[in-house]
Amino acid sequence: MGKFNAKNEEIASLKAKRTNDTEHVLVTGAAGFIGSNLCAHLVSGGNMVYGVDNFITGEKKSTARLLEEENFRFFEIDIVSDDFLKKFSKLPLKKIFHLACPTGVPNIKKLPEEMLMVSSIGTRNVMEVAKACGAKVVFSSSCEIYGQPEKFPQDENYAGNVDPVGPRSPYEEGKRFSESLIMMYVKKYGVDADIVRLFNGYGPGMRLEDPRVIPRFLKSVFSNKKPVVYGDGNQTRTFLYVDDLVNGLVRVMESGSKGNVYNIGSVEQVSINELSEIMSEIVDWKGGVEHREHFIDDHCARQPSIEKIRSLGWRKKITLRKGIEKTVEYFLNEQKNKIMNK
Ligand SMILES: NC(=O)c1ccc[n+]([C@@H]2O[C@H](COP(=O)([O-])OP(=O)(O)OC[C@H]3O[C@@H](n4cnc5c(N)ncnc54)[C@H](O)[C@@H]3O)[C@@H](O)[C@H]2O)c1
Repeated sequence: MGKFNAKNEEIASLKAKRTNDTEHVLVTGAAGFIGSNLCAHLVSGGNMVYGVDNFITGEKKSTARLLEEENFRFFEIDIVSDDFLKKFSKLPLKKIFHLACPTGVPNIKKLPEEMLMVSSIGTRNVMEVAKACGAKVVFSSSCEIYGQPEKFPQDENYAGNVDPVGPRSPYEEGKRFSESLIMMYVKKYGVDADIVRLFNGYGPGMRLEDPRVIPRFLKSVFSNKKPVVYGDGNQTRTFLYVDDLVNGLVRVMESGSKGNVYNIGSVEQVSINELSEIMSEIVDWKGGVEHREHFIDDHCARQPSIEKIRSLGWRKKITLRKGIEKTVEYFLNEQKNKIMNK
């Protein structure tokens, strides 16, 4: 049985149990949307997985099923803390997926300090752990580091167009600082690390309360309310199903060469209006949408260049329609379980 909040003594015994054939992997942000999907994938692959999270945006129930697995341990801990650094520097880690960071544009207003701290001290702590253990790091950065892009598509050499003191800067500059810090550890200390710039992901494991566009839309429909579309809805985004995203992270961990940056995303541009139409069709919603002015400056379009990740053999497999169908099914099951457990 996996453990919630495993204790120090247990860490010592896990250290002693080190074997050559089991890979010990740390996932920060394990109770989040991507983290919980990634942990499930790694656990099913036979790795010894340590998940850490402080639940600032994640949920306990995301990892509940995984706690039944022998090769999963969960630690409720803030990666900004010294405690994290002390505990995890002692583990026989080979790989670290560093995902911890509050996400979603509305969180930029709510949690700016937490974003900046986890992106600076949190990332420093993760890199110190990697240095101590000799582990490879894959860091989940974001397409937000490109800001309001003036180049399409955005390739990994594009430096972006970001306002360092603008309303989105706690997230954008936080991620940019993390990237810079990681590259410093690669160059100065020889730590093996790659950076992955994720474009929008979606799928099962998202919370219905998540303020990002797909769950927000579905939550409104499920409560029989008109979903809100910010602006005129012509702004475009690209959406990648979470299984494809997780495969991309794993692909970079396995085959990415040291100190590289890889975009991961879908290249299919979809406007928020088109996305709303697809979702309305799938859930048979005929009530339309309500347009409102955006509460924070919105970026009108983004599009990744994915040549680098493709050169590692990665391909997107799930279409947007199929992915949304699977996501709707997931949310409906969640709703059903909630009612049954009341
Ligand atoms: N989902 C996307 O579309 C997307 C796009 C671009 C980048 N990303 C990046 O991928 C990562 C995961 O995103 P997600 O969508 O799963 O977000 P999420 O908010 O669902 O998960 C992030 C997790 O990190 C945890 N966390 C935050 N600060 C922490 C701290 N100090 N210590 C320990 N845990 C902490 C949160 O509680 C949460 O469980 C984030 O770094 C995010 O910036 C995601």
